[in-house]
Amino acid sequence: ADVPVITIDGPTASGKGTLASEVARGLGYHLLDSGALYRATALAALQAGVPADDEAALSALAAKLPLRFDGEAIWLGDDNVSRQLRREEVGALASRISALPGVRAALRDLQLAFRRLPGLVADGRDMGTVIFPDAALKVFLTASAATRADRRHKQLISKGFSSNIDDLLQDLEARDARDRSRSAAPLKPAEDAVSLDNSALSIDESVQRVLEWWQQRR
Ligand code: C5P
Repeated sequence: ADVPVITIDGPTASGKGTLASEVARGLGYHLLDSGALYRATALAALQAGVPADDEAALSALAAKLPLRFDGEAIWLGDDNVSRQLRREEVGALASRISALPGVRAALRDLQLAFRRLPGLVADGRDMGTVIFPDAALKVFLTASAATRADRRHKQLISKGFSSNIDDLLQDLEARDARDRSRSAAPLKPAEDAVSLDNSALSIDESVQRVLEWWQQRR
């Protein structure tokens, strides 16, 4: 059967995760947080002491990640790593290793396997351009850098992590620049993507916008 897909791509902390999970919930669709796979690879590399530039070792690690998704929780082997995956250190390493083509290739089938009936909402950087190019709706989500740094700051504080907004802003911009300029699956809107800048929108307003687009396309 033809399984419908909605992709939501965009820069760091643009609100992709929240938007994707709300849209998936509204439609009763499955959810793929593709960034979590890069983060899990990064965490596994930190734990195993694999250097950030060892593409062969990192690709092998990514290809046999003992990952399990249990509702909102993510398990790596026997550990619930949901919280650890959000650490800035893990995000920063994920951003570096995600530029390696071998790592991206190793995570491809895992991502495709999320496409199951009744449908999928997938968020990341290359969901509409590389992984699900035939998606029926592709959203490219943006927000100003200041808005994104502020949101990430509040999110970290609320989870009990320490955070400095100036460092965050610098880190966000460095990560975006790396994601946009890499040659393997760079961050960019798909040609048939619709853009949504949510700087001045509430979460509900963004969700409604996407659901309206989806209805128009069905
Ligand atoms: O979205 P999130 O911040 O969790 O992703 C972590 C890192 O993984 C990003 O900085 C990005 O470099 C990388 N990533 C990617 N392709 C995806 C999802 C995430 O390269 N589809």
